[in-house]
Amino acid sequence: MKPLRDRNPRQRQRSDAPGRQPAAAAGRRAGPLPEERLPLILEVLPDEDYALLDSGGGRKLERYGPYRIVRPEGQALWQPAWEAAEWDKADAVFTGDTDEEGMGRWRFPGTPLGETWPMRHDGIAYLGRFTSFRHVGVFPEQASHWAHMAGLIEAARRPVKVLNLFGYTGLASLVAARAGAQVTHIDASKKAIAWARENQEVAGLGDRPIRWICEDAVKFAEREKRRGNSYDIILLDPPAYGRGPKGEVWQLFEHLPGLVETCRDILSPRPLALVLTAYSIRASFFAVHALVRDAFAGMGGRVESGELVIREQSAGRALSTSLFSRWVAR
Ligand SMILES: C[S@@+](CC[C@H](N)C(=O)[O-])C[C@H]1O[C@@H](n2cnc3c(N)ncnc32)[C@H](O)[C@@H]1O
Repeated sequence: MKPLRDRNPRQRQRSDAPGRQPAAAAGRRAGPLPEERLPLILEVLPDEDYALLDSGGGRKLERYGPYRIVRPEGQALWQPAWEAAEWDKADAVFTGDTDEEGMGRWRFPGTPLGETWPMRHDGIAYLGRFTSFRHVGVFPEQASHWAHMAGLIEAARRPVKVLNLFGYTGLASLVAARAGAQVTHIDASKKAIAWARENQEVAGLGDRPIRWICEDAVKFAEREKRRGNSYDIILLDPPAYGRGPKGEVWQLFEHLPGLVETCRDILSPRPLALVLTAYSIRASFFAVHALVRDAFAGMGGRVESGELVIREQSAGRALSTSLFSRWVAR
């Protein structure tokens, strides 16, 4: 095929010459980009608190503490490795076949279970709960981030402030508080905040400094910027779509770039990390990687991006749950 004639070959040659870049577009942060590390696949393995026992046929069989639970799993395109008899031992199955709230959407093949049950994560007690959205109050894949964050807090050997945006039932906040951080936890749902407070008591961490705030994540971050408040570590785990307590609309593709910028602005003078996770979206980790790396131009450190996966016990297959990008100062 004949190439198109270049209308201005000299100019083209100059701007494309090695080492010469066109001027940066207005609005893009100046400064060298952080180092990068990708793909980084962070795995959660089965343990006594939680295990992905088996998966396949569009479902997953998990063990949460004492209970076996079956839930839909769109990514499980393969066949289950275990016999149906193992799946039939489930204590609870999410059916979602009624419009009812809460436990009405669950079936209990044996003895009916209570709405909540005692759970543990790495020695932190909390409450599992059967909710109408098939969630049970914890996203086990996040454990990889929690361990990393706790390591940063402990290694800092100074007071560390953590902001947990879209914090849900508070597991990340409890892990941070146990590691010695002062935590600000933001979620738009009053129910989630009440559950998170309950978890703080159940965990025996009632004396730890955690502010539980029911607020829109974007509004809160922008207010902190106006007030000049800052944090050493920021976690954000936004849904694809959500609403703030006053009906504020959260659309990840529309609002995430602005929120990442605001988060960078409210990092302290000696920041440690920003950890962004995203799930249920049509995007690759390259997308969030480029977003975070550009936003952290001039900050040094490294941006690490990839997927959070859970390793299955039965046949060792990896179940991908979410993509992430995190900036770490060193
Ligand atoms: C999947 S959860 C995050 C999980 C959490 N990081 C964890 O590991 O346990 C998403 C949370 O975002 C909250 N949310 C949705 N829209 C919000 C908004 N505009 N502002 C603040 N929180 C919001 C929801 O109430 C929900 O608790």
